[in-house]
Amino acid sequence: MKILDGQLVSQATKDDLKIKVADLVQQGLKVPHLAAVLVGNDGASETYVGSKVRTCEEIGYKSTLIRLDKSIDESELLETIRKLNEDDDVDGILVQLPLPAGISEQKVIDAIDASKDVDGFHSINVGRMVQGLPTFVPATPHGIMLLLEYYKIDTKGMNAAVIGRSNIVGRPMSILLSAATNPGNCTVTLCHSQTKNIAEICRNSDLIVAALGKPGFLKADMVKEGAIVIDVGISRVTDPSKKRGYSIKGDVDFDGVAPKCSYITPVPGGVGPMTIAALMKNTFRACTAK
Ligand code: GUN
Repeated sequence: MKILDGQLVSQATKDDLKIKVADLVQQGLKVPHLAAVLVGNDGASETYVGSKVRTCEEIGYKSTLIRLDKSIDESELLETIRKLNEDDDVDGILVQLPLPAGISEQKVIDAIDASKDVDGFHSINVGRMVQGLPTFVPATPHGIMLLLEYYKIDTKGMNAAVIGRSNIVGRPMSILLSAATNPGNCTVTLCHSQTKNIAEICRNSDLIVAALGKPGFLKADMVKEGAIVIDVGISRVTDPSKKRGYSIKGDVDFDGVAPKCSYITPVPGGVGPMTIAALMKNTFRACTAK
């Protein structure tokens, strides 16, 4: 069993970007600028946005964090996006999800200029991804593809199970794994809450991506010997032994599953850091591919 070390690969990706940013500076060119919009003060969203902004600083990007009260209405958020679209200094825009009830996430996402949509959630960019055209690929599935690529895992012809059909992770993951690329070229089954035989589908899979948000869901008896297991889960589970009162748990019962795997991602230190690295790659592209 080998650990797919997201921390290590993320650091390598960030180091590479750091060098590229230094090159831009030396040539007198503009450095990438990411604008993040955070509505309300959900604890998990605060953590994610904080780490995105910190990573920008680490690499040498410019970043702007726009905080809006959770009581704002949709039109105010759309106006904020309009201004960011028009600001030539801003290369990438992300609106942290979820948004408060009453605000249409798709309307907000589609208001972002598609050429600044570093999350890859805009309808145009999703369409381009499905067609295999160059575009911004959503950060979590993009990060997973980078991880598989780094470890030179040849997924050609594999049966892959993706558990969870969210627009952020599961659905784009299923598209990328089925694409005629390397990694890719998998035969993908996209499982969700209405799937009848998840355990059986998983047992028949060479590669499993667990992205359903249920801590410890994937158990050893659902995994075949030698499978590759990617854990996207990052649930906060109450843990009085921790100073902060919770610990982070993945969707995979790691202790049970890991001994059966050829490769597995840990939580934390697997997919999480890769998501940030992929976002940083997208932001670099937004700045330089104009
Ligand atoms: N919420 C959970 N994951 C993401 C993400 O990748 N991007 C944004 N904008 N919000 C999220």
